[in-house]
Amino acid sequence: MTADNYAAGSTGAAADVLEIVARDHREVEQLFRQFETADPSSDIARATAERIIRELSVHAVVEEEILYPALREVGGGDALADHALEEHQELKETLASVDGKPVSDPSVRANLARVRTLVERHVGEEERDVFSHMRALGEERLMRIGTMLETAKKTAPTHPHPNAPNTPPGNVIAGMAAAVVDRMRDALRSVRT
Ligand SMILES: [Fe+2]
Ligand SMILES: [Fe+2]
Repeated sequence: MTADNYAAGSTGAAADVLEIVARDHREVEQLFRQFETADPSSDIARATAERIIRELSVHAVVEEEILYPALREVGGGDALADHALEEHQELKETLASVDGKPVSDPSVRANLARVRTLVERHVGEEERDVFSHMRALGEERLMRIGTMLETAKKTAPTHPHPNAPNTPPGNVIAGMAAAVVDRMRDALRSVRT
């Protein structure tokens, strides 16, 4: 089954982790298309950029907490997980450089375009190399990991934290603290806007 089949077949019901990750990827691709066609000074552009930052921050953290540790159980998975973490790091640093900045600013837009390029490259590798290795875990296990990943999303940080640990158990502990702060910040900002 291809990644597209996974995404197209999703219904929101219980799903294996590869289906969930592919669905997240398609959603972010859609958000980038929406951002690039919006008027840079519009509320839609600002809100879409905020969602891109939120979705990617949550997605990266839950992969680091749930997906990549499971990947390391498979032969050849360690090297793939290490490589993925390096790509996440560059992504998080670039996201942090734009978080909270006005998207009408050309330098912010240039960095968001850089984020899109990094995401496209990373997603391509993830859906090809990581997915093919993860399938060795079997469908039942992939379903259980999918449930864990969806649960982790509910309490994941919503902003990039490039200086936080990115492997267990440090990332789980730091992630819980960061998530509380992020979600309070988000709530305060939504009251103001
Ligand atoms: Fe990733
Ligand atoms: Fe991903």
